[in-house]
Amino acid sequence: MKYALLLLAITTLTPAQDLGKQGEAVFSKSCATGYCHGARGTNGGAPRLAARGFDQEFIGGTVARGIPGTAMPAFATTLSRADLTAVVAYVASLNGIASPTIAGSGGPPVPAAAKLTADAARGRTLFSDAVRGFGRCSTCHEIGGLGIPVATPIAKVPADVAALKILATPQVSTATLGAESMPALVVSKKANAVIFYDLTTPPPVLRTEASASIQTRDGSTWRHASVISAYSDAELAAILTYLRAVVKL
Ligand code: HEC
Repeated sequence: MKYALLLLAITTLTPAQDLGKQGEAVFSKSCATGYCHGARGTNGGAPRLAARGFDQEFIGGTVARGIPGTAMPAFATTLSRADLTAVVAYVASLNGIASPTIAGSGGPPVPAAAKLTADAARGRTLFSDAVRGFGRCSTCHEIGGLGIPVATPIAKVPADVAALKILATPQVSTATLGAESMPALVVSKKANAVIFYDLTTPPPVLRTEASASIQTRDGSTWRHASVISAYSDAELAAILTYLRAVVKL
């Protein structure tokens, strides 16, 4: 039955969609159970997997071998090779790692490399470059389904690299919680709870605090300069060229 469904999935999807969809299906069945990881890599009983800055090798090793002494099992013997590959690619995509076989779903579409100038194509790769760690743009921005949409979709592109580093970020407010003060991107404010991304250090951490214990005020000192130092100015210029090509579309 399991194999019949899998075969059906493989034959009805286009090759580009098929790894991503298959990975998501394997993930919901094997990883996002009630006690383990949450849907789309949020936290359940086990740790959050999305936006953690994991690289593909680390994810592959952990999924295949498990983590001894914890509830994380080794899947190398229980999942088929195809399922294993798909689920590793899926978790990698939740961490903003480009996988050319996973089709985009959200944000502006990713243009085909052939349609981009060489500089913009380089920027496209750099945007979600795994070796940049948490400082890569895809830690907080999503384009064409790649990356984590912490910030709202990019609509305006700064004129140059200097402008990006000091770009005003009016949506980021300052939250105070007892003695703790932090730059915060508020997701929702309800009568009893405030949900926000804590931007103190990348990756942003999604937090829920009781409304009574937290104060927020507009504005913050948070700027991109504090997170994007893994890129050289020339690399940032290439990324801006890419963004200009994407946002125009
Ligand atoms: C740690 C999270 C984080 C990282 C990493 C990050 N950004 Fe941002 N970015 C934000 C947030 C938050 C905003 C929204 C600020 C606001 O509007 O108040 C933003 C806004 C922007 C905007 C303005 C969009 C608009 O339409 O106004 C641009 C452009 C941008 N980022 C580019 C980049 C680029 C390029 C990189 C990588 C070199 C990057 N960002 C990395 C968090 C991040």
